[in-house]
Amino acid sequence: MKVVVTGGAGFIGSNFILYWMRHHPDDAIVNLDKLTYAGNLENLKDVENNPNYTFVQGDIVDADLVEHALKGADIVVHFAAESHVDRSIHEPAQFVMTNVLGTQVLLDASLKANIKRFHHISTDEVFGSLPLFSKDKFDEKTKYDPRSPYSASKAGSDHLVNAYSATYGLPTTITNCSNNFGPYHFPEKLIPLAITNILEGKKVPVYGDGLYVRDWLYVEDHCRAIELVLIKGKIGETYCVGGSADDINNLTVVKKILRIMGKTDDMIEFVKDRPGHDRRYAIDWSKIKNDLGWEPQHNFDEWLEKTVEWYRQNTSWWQRVKDGSYQDYYKKQYGSV
Ligand code: NAD
Ligand code: TYD
Repeated sequence: MKVVVTGGAGFIGSNFILYWMRHHPDDAIVNLDKLTYAGNLENLKDVENNPNYTFVQGDIVDADLVEHALKGADIVVHFAAESHVDRSIHEPAQFVMTNVLGTQVLLDASLKANIKRFHHISTDEVFGSLPLFSKDKFDEKTKYDPRSPYSASKAGSDHLVNAYSATYGLPTTITNCSNNFGPYHFPEKLIPLAITNILEGKKVPVYGDGLYVRDWLYVEDHCRAIELVLIKGKIGETYCVGGSADDINNLTVVKKILRIMGKTDDMIEFVKDRPGHDRRYAIDWSKIKNDLGWEPQHNFDEWLEKTVEWYRQNTSWWQRVKDGSYQDYYKKQYGSV
C-alpha cells in the first residue's frame, strides 16, 4: 500500500511515520513536506535510508506537485499545517493559505488520484472554549466555534473535507484531537518550551493567570488512534481523540516539569496573556472507544517525565531548532524572558 503523509517532517507527522513504518513495514511511505521552520528531517533519520520511505519537498498549495506526489497513492494522511496559535495571531494569512487552500488542493488531487482514503488531522480547537470548572467536554456533535486564526483555518479545512465527502463522494475521515506532547515537539509550544528553557537556565513564560486548561494526549496514543481510524473507521465519520488526565491547568503542568527537573517555582514568569485565549479544552473520546476500541494508554505524569528525559538526551536536536529564526520569533513573542 502507498501512503502519502503530508507534514511528515513536523512533530506529529514524524512520530506517525516512525510508528507506521514500525507497524506496517511493507507499506511505501511518501512524506510530502515543505520544510517550513517547523519541519525537520532529523526526526526521520531512523528511516531515511529505508527503501520504503521517500521524501518529497513541496508545498501542498502547489497543485502540479501535489498531483504528481499522489500518483498511485492508496491513502493520504494529512498533517501539513501551520500549527501555532501565537504565530497565527502575528501572521494569519499563511494559515489560511496552507490550512484552507492547501487542504482544498490536496482534496482535489485525491479525487483525481482516486485514493481510497483521505484522513484529515484536525484539532479540538475548532470547537472554541469551554468554561473553567465545568464538566463540559467536546465531542463529535459540538458546534464549531473557532476563536483564533489558527482554529478558524483548521475549521475551514474540516468543512472542506466534509464537503468533498458529501459532494464528490471522496472517502474521508477526520480526527479532532487535543494537545499532543512527546518527542520531536517544536519548542514554541508550552511543554517543550518549558523543558528547554529550564535546560538553558531561562524562566518559563506563563500566559495570564496560568489557569488555562488543556487536554494532554501522548503523541503515540494519537498515532494509534489514527491507525485504528484508517483500518476500522467508518467513511465520512469524525472521531474525537483525547488524553486520560482531566483538567490540568498550565501552571500545574509547568510546576510538574519544574519538579521533575529539580527546580523551584521561582523559574515561572507570568507574562502578558494571549489575545482571545481559549480557557479550557476537554475531550469526550467515548465514540472512538466504543466504535473502534481505542483509549489512551500513556499516563500524563509518567510520560511527561519520559518526555523531559527525551529532551535531556537530545540536546543537539533542540539546540539546533532553537537557533536562527527561532530567536527572532522568541524575541517578538516574549521580549527578554
Ligand atoms: P508542526 O507545526 O510540528 O508540523 C507541521 C509540518 O507541516 C511541518 O513539517 C511543516 O514543514 C509542514 N508544512 C507546513 N506548511 C506546509 C505546506 N504549505 N506544505 C507542505 N508542508 C507544510 O505541526 P504538528 O504539531 O505536528 O501538527 C500536525 C497536525 O496536527 C496539524 O494539522 C495540526 O493542526 C494538528 N494538531 C496538532 C496538535 C498538537 O498538539 N500539536 C493538536 C491537534 C491537532
Ligand atoms: P500551546 O502549546 O501553544 O498550545 P495551544 O495554544 O494550541 O493549546 O499552549 C498550550 C497552553 O499553554 C495554552 O493555554 C497557552 C499556554 N502557553 C503559555 O502559558 N506560555 C507559553 O509560552 C506558551 C507557548 C503557551
